Amino acid sequence: MSLTRRSLAVLPLAGLLPTHRVAASQAVNVYTTREPGLLQPVLQRFTAETGVAVNTVFLRQGVAERVEAEGAVSPADLVILADIGELADFTRRGLAQPMAQPATGVLPAGLRDAGDRWVALTMRARAILVSRERVRDQALTYEGLADPRWRGKLCIRSGQHPYNVALIAAHLEHHGEAKAVEWLTGMKSNLARKPAGGDREVARDIMGGLGDIGLSNTYYVGLMLSGRGGEQQQAWGQAVRVVLPSFTDGAGAHVNVSGAAIARHAPNAARARQLLAWLLQPEAQRQLAEANFEYPVRPGVEPHPLIAALGPLRLDQIALQKIAERRAEASLLVDRVALDR
Ligand SMILES: [Fe+2]
Repeated sequence: MSLTRRSLAVLPLAGLLPTHRVAASQAVNVYTTREPGLLQPVLQRFTAETGVAVNTVFLRQGVAERVEAEGAVSPADLVILADIGELADFTRRGLAQPMAQPATGVLPAGLRDAGDRWVALTMRARAILVSRERVRDQALTYEGLADPRWRGKLCIRSGQHPYNVALIAAHLEHHGEAKAVEWLTGMKSNLARKPAGGDREVARDIMGGLGDIGLSNTYYVGLMLSGRGGEQQQAWGQAVRVVLPSFTDGAGAHVNVSGAAIARHAPNAARARQLLAWLLQPEAQRQLAEANFEYPVRPGVEPHPLIAALGPLRLDQIALQKIAERRAEASLLVDRVALDR
């Protein structure tokens, strides 16, 4: 985490004070949980191209709480949130307004809200990492992570982390509760170590021989392989091979998304729509996705070459909305099988 982000993150009460940064008539106000380094360059280009200034409030979390607390005088126009859980929470609280945005029509239905209140901007797949040296399989399923052949070989981060909770919610939606419990129990039996660390530590532990298989978001693979996180992480990335899996009855990989919603009380709703349409244009999509090795949501736009090299991304057919709705249930199951203990 950058220092900038941390210092901003410890000021949650600032949202209850009048916001003096918001003045210009030619401005749009963005609240976001995305990292400044990812978003700022794209927003600067928007300003350069359109003359519309962007006032950005970066928060580690709690965008919905803040907009809710600000109520009808909230200066927030567009919120850009880091995952489907946050988007679902924001809309469930009634904080979004319908986007009435023709630009969102270019996206597959699963990547936008059926009620037109949020839209995905970038996506990342929950991939399976295997040891390049020790595992030969080319096609793998999520269900297969519970196969006894991986006994003592599975490395994952906490089952309660939003990335894993969303994956478990997708499993629930595919197979129902009994099968999900069986799956989680099987995975627990396969653990090489307690679920901990992040997705990159999965690659680290596979390189170290502790495990042979694990789960990671695709962008961590790009971050590692690019060398952006240093030589050590690059070696971790090179030790693993990425398999884009599917559920046994599914069409492709489970994805999570970053996305945007227009705030219900947006003082500059028209400019929020303008920015949103701009963010869905091919060039902005490319830049936004490349900044964090994510996939553009707009069909036909290529991800960074390191991500394109993972092979074609096919999407699981379960709508993100359904996944969001089953997250609480998924989280309870993680505790019930004591996955993290
Ligand atoms: Fe992440």
